[in-house]
Amino acid sequence: MRFAILNGEIIERSEAKVDVEDRGYQFGDGVYEVIRVYNGKMFTATEHLNRFVKSSESIGITLPYTQEQLTKLLEELIVKNNLQVGTIYMQITRGISPRNHAFPTEKVMPSLVAYTKEVARPVENLKTGVKTILTEDIRWLRCDIKSLNLLGNLLAKQKAAVEGCFEAIQHRSEDVTEGSSSNIFIVKNGIVITHQSDNLILKGISKDVILQVCASNNIEVEERIFTLDELADADEVFLSSTTAEVMPIIEVDGKSVAAGFPGPVTRRLQELFEQEIEKQCGSLNDKILY
Ligand code: PDD
Repeated sequence: MRFAILNGEIIERSEAKVDVEDRGYQFGDGVYEVIRVYNGKMFTATEHLNRFVKSSESIGITLPYTQEQLTKLLEELIVKNNLQVGTIYMQITRGISPRNHAFPTEKVMPSLVAYTKEVARPVENLKTGVKTILTEDIRWLRCDIKSLNLLGNLLAKQKAAVEGCFEAIQHRSEDVTEGSSSNIFIVKNGIVITHQSDNLILKGISKDVILQVCASNNIEVEERIFTLDELADADEVFLSSTTAEVMPIIEVDGKSVAAGFPGPVTRRLQELFEQEIEKQCGSLNDKILY
């Protein structure tokens, strides 16, 4: 039997149902998080929960649970579902109310849902690298909020999927922003370059882990806008996300990135990222071996 969290309670997953007038269902009026689990333990749980609170508050939803309560609930869910390696998906919406674009005037209880999924580390892709396409970033101007409204992201990802690619790299005119569900990095002359965390991208938790390990290992970083030309001219390109970790990119729009295989800085960052996972969650038995 599998379990899910619905409004603060752990129940059978098949019983976790939402109302047709839930504002998340009708408007995408809510926010979400995806948290990685290794060896039955959450990785960077505090950072994910902090971002969850921040995203909720930025759209005026007050979480009816403390971060401690949520952490405890999620830990219980992992145990109940006997999850070893996978993800937790968690979302909160403004709640159930007769359809009206403006927020409900009466007090409405936000709806919280969370469930788990078994997902192995994508070790093969992490070793060989993945292909990507380029696409114009057609999303709104608050990409820093982890909103349930993902249509722009979905259309970009679908374009990649049709081309047999792992990810779509989005750009606003000449400036590269981020992937449809990841942050994008280039490496030039040993310097790691990635878009600054502003309103045009999601401040990735994996991105932050990478920036921290760069800082403590004397790997130079520039957080700034970079262009499509810089992307085309990069020595290495990689993406980061909760599920994909540090994923080498070996092709952009049909053109090989440098030599067409994961570069030395990317591989070093993969190694350092694995060390961070092991510090929090214990030994990995499926490390990336080159
Ligand atoms: N996506 N940018 C976008 C648009 C994302 O959707 C994500 C994550 C990231 C990377 O963030 P993080 O390192 O915190 O996972 C960047 C998640 C995994 C998803 O939607 O499934």
